[in-house]
Amino acid sequence: MSTPVTVVGLGLMGTALAEAFIIAGHPTTVWNRTASKASPLAAKGANAAATIEDAVAASPLIVTCLTTFEDTRSALAPVSVADWDARALVTLNSGNPADAREMAAWADDHGARFLAGAVKNVPAAVGLPDTLLYYSGDQSVFDDYEKTLTVLGGDTVFLGEDPDLAALYEMAVGGTLLPTLVGFYQGAATLQSRGLQVSSMVRFSAKWLDMISSLLPIFAKEIDTGDYSQPLSTVDTFIAGAAHDASLGAEADIDIAWHAPLNDLLRRAADAGHGGDSISVLTEVLKGAEFGADK
Ligand SMILES: NC(=O)c1ccc[n+]([C@@H]2O[C@H](COP(=O)([O-])OP(=O)(O)OC[C@H]3O[C@@H](n4cnc5c(N)ncnc54)[C@H](OP(=O)(O)O)[C@@H]3O)[C@@H](O)[C@H]2O)c1
Repeated sequence: MSTPVTVVGLGLMGTALAEAFIIAGHPTTVWNRTASKASPLAAKGANAAATIEDAVAASPLIVTCLTTFEDTRSALAPVSVADWDARALVTLNSGNPADAREMAAWADDHGARFLAGAVKNVPAAVGLPDTLLYYSGDQSVFDDYEKTLTVLGGDTVFLGEDPDLAALYEMAVGGTLLPTLVGFYQGAATLQSRGLQVSSMVRFSAKWLDMISSLLPIFAKEIDTGDYSQPLSTVDTFIAGAAHDASLGAEADIDIAWHAPLNDLLRRAADAGHGGDSISVLTEVLKGAEFGADK
């Protein structure tokens, strides 16, 4: 069964989404503010709509991938309530939960059924069996179009009816990205300070990240239960390690200032009497209120 689908926003990600629909045989209409970006997709079989109104009218399912929710509303502004006629709007941009709720209210006002989604991967991974996308909002949209949406990635998940859940999970899961990458870049600079190739550490770094992944269920259980008393690694162990970072930074002439707020979290946990607890107790430091009052 092929579902006509419209893709609005043909940047790096939107183009990958449209290509996946075309490859899967869905009649695909595309629209982009800068119209020239539609041409390569038209050459692959997409219908390039002249106006945003024509783009929405072409399909029961409208998938948008613009930079922000605000940009999405701005691009869709000319489309009237009558044009929407209960069509399904699926957003796949990044954003925060408050913006997702605002988008849901906008969709409601405009007569569109709304599902907010997030692509947890890069454009090149769109369409692969393992690629994760999650959605939240109007379950009828997910139920009606799950099979079509699965074309974008085999790991397609409905999180619940709250339209901000996809944004919430996107931000919660995405929080590891920058600290992890900065840690890798610090390691890269460390190797370069000795004239070594960064590529020589990739296999070891990947194994290290696998090890961290394997610990996440254990940490999640500690945090969910609030029991940090059976540590695999303690706060004190990490405090001892911080001194090594400082001396390596001096030796390799690397700016390790980004560690300061992390070390501050460790110190606050120890000061509150949690030095011997699991490192996952840092979650309580991040939550702040009354932390350590009972120790
Ligand atoms: N690229 C990734 O690796 C990746 C991964 C996961 C999620 N995402 C998310 O996907 C979304 C799009 O990312 P991208 O990489 O595709 O970005 P991009 O290549 O910069 O494309 C941005 C798109 O938004 C359109 N746009 C922006 N403001 C607009 C406005 N006011 N009116 C109309 N169109 C507007 C642009 O139109 P013009 O062509 O006319 O400028 C373009 O089509 C972002 O929220 C991003 O965080 C991206």
